[in-house]
Amino acid sequence: VIEDACQAHGALYRGKRAGAIGDAAAFSFYPGKNLGSWGEAGAVSTNNDQLAEKLRKLRDHGAEKKYFHLTRGLNLRTINFQGAVLSVKLKHLDSWNDRRREIAFLYNELLEDVKEVVTPYESTFVKHVYHLYVIRAERRDALRSFLSERGIDTGIHYPIPLHLQKAYEDLGYVRGDFPNAEEAALSVLSLPMFPELTDDEVERVAKTIKEFYS
Ligand SMILES: Cc1ncc(COP(=O)(O)O)c(C=O)c1O
Repeated sequence: VIEDACQAHGALYRGKRAGAIGDAAAFSFYPGKNLGSWGEAGAVSTNNDQLAEKLRKLRDHGAEKKYFHLTRGLNLRTINFQGAVLSVKLKHLDSWNDRRREIAFLYNELLEDVKEVVTPYESTFVKHVYHLYVIRAERRDALRSFLSERGIDTGIHYPIPLHLQKAYEDLGYVRGDFPNAEEAALSVLSLPMFPELTDDEVERVAKTIKEFYS
């Protein structure tokens, strides 16, 4: 089992951290992530020594040691500078995630009575770290424009489901094959979410959403 933990730095599932559940996990340190570097970076976590050795070779053109290439690999090395940035930022990850959770709970509370909006649900056995705060919204595109005209930027994660991406055309899927994913692509909206967001700003976003539906 390979985990995609790219949006889940610090998240918990039944008491285990994301990245420690499967045989291996992929983390992205893209700048916008909960733990982001200052450029492209990523990591794989695993407790399997054999797999770790294989991955170390793969990221370095398949080399076991300099100039000795046992298999074919790629250049997937993260540069040292990114490591330095990440090691400083890692110390703040838990407190940044705590603040993201506070923001999410405030949004949940403020949007509770807006019947056109569905807020994210968190099970009792998980700890979400809200890389994104995604609502389902009626008339999503009109709401998005309304917010944008009032200086509130939002995102759509993601507008095109995988089976409708041109890159996977050859697999033969068509619209209607995955109706839930297709419906989600039309209704999801990511509201502003980052640790530095103030309560006043969250309140302004919620107020503007209410204004749109009133
Ligand atoms: C869930 C998920 N998986 C994978 C990726 C890919 O990560 P990267 O951009 O570092 O290749 C992302 C990045 O957006 C992601 O959010």
